[in-house]
Amino acid sequence: MKKPKVLVTRQVANEAIALLEPAAEVKVWESDEPIPRERLLAEVEDAEAVLSMLTERIDEELLTRAKKLRIAANMAVGYDNIDLPACKRRDIWVTNTPDVLTEATADLAFALLMATGRRLIEADRYVRNGEWSSWSPSLMAGQNVYGATLGIIGMGRIGEAVARRAKGFGMRIKYCNRNRKEQAEAETGAEWASLETLLRESDYVVLLTPLTEETRLLMGEQQFSWMKPTSVFINVSRGGTVDESALYQALVSRKIWAAGLDVFQQEPLPQDHPLLSLPNIVALPHIGSATEQTRADMAKLAAANIVAVLEGRKPLTPL
Ligand code: DGY
Repeated sequence: MKKPKVLVTRQVANEAIALLEPAAEVKVWESDEPIPRERLLAEVEDAEAVLSMLTERIDEELLTRAKKLRIAANMAVGYDNIDLPACKRRDIWVTNTPDVLTEATADLAFALLMATGRRLIEADRYVRNGEWSSWSPSLMAGQNVYGATLGIIGMGRIGEAVARRAKGFGMRIKYCNRNRKEQAEAETGAEWASLETLLRESDYVVLLTPLTEETRLLMGEQQFSWMKPTSVFINVSRGGTVDESALYQALVSRKIWAAGLDVFQQEPLPQDHPLLSLPNIVALPHIGSATEQTRADMAKLAAANIVAVLEGRKPLTPL
């Protein structure tokens, strides 16, 4: 009997492909660049499963073409690239990759917080550019991390993991979330706060919410105006949660001190984007979960979800 076709939209860890192969005919888009849309639409026509990245839109147009599709296994914890209701209407499973990327993403959030607060990237550029002529008390002076107040917007798994790191840095932690997180409060001393209180009182604000209709443009002119002039804003969620022109204005007018951004409204970020003209931002190319081990674990989890569905079982991490 012919094996079902699985489309893998990017080159992923070999272990993930090895998991799929006994159960499927695996078609891999062997590139580090996204599969062109037209090619994707053609390839999904006879696919029963797709192992997708956050760069692929799984929408009405695609689903109309993908008549045999049984599962879209996204290799990410976020799934704003997938029209979930449209998949549900067609009885197509949608899965994501929670847990396996929690610690790596929290590491990146904290690294970005420290790099921005202590001006590490700017300082590295300064040395390389031959600008280092002498020591001075104000040279590359940043903001304290140890003992500062951290505000976490979105206290999910990654938020809790960031809070655990912050505890080790003697930080006071405030968080804002739809529901209270008693265990995290007990473990890290985190205190629940309204968004306004959190923004007014925090020295560092880390945004970690998923992108939904509720969180789209959550951070705008008013929200930045509540922040301290010495505060640092970090975004490791999705670019769509932030009004980038309001952020630009807040940084230019020094309403806030600096920003560390791993995600942007448009990715890749255009070279002429106004944010890149500012010295007080650190910009990263969406690398929250980018460690070799974590990316392999994400791919393996996505593959395991596909195998489960092809074998008639419930996937491990359904949405
Ligand atoms: C995710 O998983 O949603 C990240 O943004 C990509 O690793």
